[in-house]
Amino acid sequence: MNQYVSAATIKMLREKKKLTQAQLAEILHVSDKTVSKWETAKGLPDIKLLEPLAKALHVSVVELMTGECITNHNKTSNILRSQLYVCPICGNIIHATGQAMISCCGITLPPLVPDSCDTEHTITCEIVDETDLYVTVKDHSMSKMHFISFIAYVTTDRFEIVKLYPESEAQARFAIRGRNGHGILLSYCNHHGLFMKKI
Ligand SMILES: [Fe+2]
Repeated sequence: MNQYVSAATIKMLREKKKLTQAQLAEILHVSDKTVSKWETAKGLPDIKLLEPLAKALHVSVVELMTGECITNHNKTSNILRSQLYVCPICGNIIHATGQAMISCCGITLPPLVPDSCDTEHTITCEIVDETDLYVTVKDHSMSKMHFISFIAYVTTDRFEIVKLYPESEAQARFAIRGRNGHGILLSYCNHHGLFMKKI
């Protein structure tokens, strides 16, 4: 039988959490004999218990199923190395300053990897009123099916995002930061993904 969670993983994670089999059993409202069976490969947790089990062991369902704990080594987050995630089901936009295991609508989201701009997704910016950056993706569609969903301005200490909607303009205005405004501009197309321009 194909096991979706291994006995060794449950045991390892339980011991790491310093829980006894009885304590884990109590949290999950099962008997300690049941937990013992899981850890000796004589039984598998019911699929409905996967999420509560992961929660009790302080890991994600993916970590529970793969047996690999994901640790964020990025203790001094650099905002310029931010990761963005967009849920393809609900459109949720998630920003992380380091590595993370992100799930939304029941699926694990990969971090977006920005591409250099192409002709359809060219990001242009100009300084207006000496204080603001005016950013556009002017050649791009803004129809309901295909549009720029957000534009972001990222510097070493700040991440600013402007949400855009179909039928609006693919533009955003940001206060220039630092002496010269150096940073990264990002634009996200709901069909073609993330694009980046260094400024
Ligand atoms: Fe596009």
